[in-house]
Amino acid sequence: MNTTLQQFNVEKIRTDFPILQQEVHGKPLVYLDNAATSQTPTVVIEALQKYYREYNSNVHRGVHRLSHIATDAYEGAREKVRRFLNASSLQEIIFTKGTTDGINLLASSIGRGLIKPGDEIVISAMEHHSNIVPWQLMCEDRGARLRVIPINDDGEIIFEAYEDLLNERTKLVSIVHTSNSLGTVNPLRQIIDLAHNKNVPVLVDGAQAVPHTAVDLRALDCDFFVFSSHKVFGPTGVGVLYGKKEWLEKLPPYQGGGDMILNVTFAGTKFNELPYKFEAGTPNIADVIGLGVALDYVQQIGYDAISSWENELIQYALKRLQEIEGLRFIGNAKHRAGAISFVLENIHPHDIGTILDREGVAVRTGHHCTQPVMQCFKVPATTRASFAFYNTKEEIDLLIKALYKVIEMFS
Ligand code: ALA
Repeated sequence: MNTTLQQFNVEKIRTDFPILQQEVHGKPLVYLDNAATSQTPTVVIEALQKYYREYNSNVHRGVHRLSHIATDAYEGAREKVRRFLNASSLQEIIFTKGTTDGINLLASSIGRGLIKPGDEIVISAMEHHSNIVPWQLMCEDRGARLRVIPINDDGEIIFEAYEDLLNERTKLVSIVHTSNSLGTVNPLRQIIDLAHNKNVPVLVDGAQAVPHTAVDLRALDCDFFVFSSHKVFGPTGVGVLYGKKEWLEKLPPYQGGGDMILNVTFAGTKFNELPYKFEAGTPNIADVIGLGVALDYVQQIGYDAISSWENELIQYALKRLQEIEGLRFIGNAKHRAGAISFVLENIHPHDIGTILDREGVAVRTGHHCTQPVMQCFKVPATTRASFAFYNTKEEIDLLIKALYKVIEMFS
């Protein structure tokens, strides 16, 4: 047994995930759609149940016992997120509905607070629609311009082009950490340093990074960071926006309502302090608490063990997929994590996905909410297998076997 396998007992870990123990169409479920949604361990499911069975109550509002317990658990989760990201202050952690919500919050707030006609926002050609469309809407609204860093044939950003795009009109760089459709891990250190040299703040879309790698925001020094709970083994419908305090203090609130105010009169409203200024209305209390438990769970396993096991899985999957004649990878970045996209000659990805499903193998097919990536690679869609630490090499073998079945059916 090699070192990784000794440290990492994947079969034991799988018992923490009840959903993985089932059959689909009479075959054992092989879940390789983790980039869309990861699975939740029993500890998270139990935490959600405990909330609704024992202390379901609103936060920051009641003097009664249940409200105190709910508030402590909710704010306890904020501290868990702060530690998870190594952020400096609890005031920098804002709960959102997810990555998309976090980016929309910032686009709206930055748009109203900072952007003038002629200003520019820089994104890359490998962004998810959620890191494109909010900026398009904002730019249209404010008379600003969206600039796009091109990518090369391997699916990596072209650094010289990025350098050329930065100028005195650039107000923000918003870039994905790990691409959901290509698996590319971007060189964030250089991207952020270059932007900061020109006094430009950087937002990092970390949705596809946090399931695979530890993130240290004080080391990374980005100005904003977003991620979703459901990609990191937590419940759906909740996520996090991190922002440096000096930026969040400058920005106007996103939504108005309860909890984001200190004082309201018809003459005007005084907003609450951070982070509450950006958390209008009753938050998603149960799922925030569930997210906290998910982060504890993943840290107990440890990102060193997770990264090395997943790297072994990805290398094995790449090797096995390469054996298939007529298979072409979409994206071939030197530094990659999480996902492998590919096309099979003359077979539409939707047909591949449907046949794989009959074999119990769950993958995502389509444009993966990255239509510009499909346009770059001149394909309408891809098949994407995406991995988590609970996947096994035997599951990759089942994927390969099912792909040969697809090829046989179409030959
Ligand atoms: N962003 C998710 C994915 O890549 C939904 O599948």
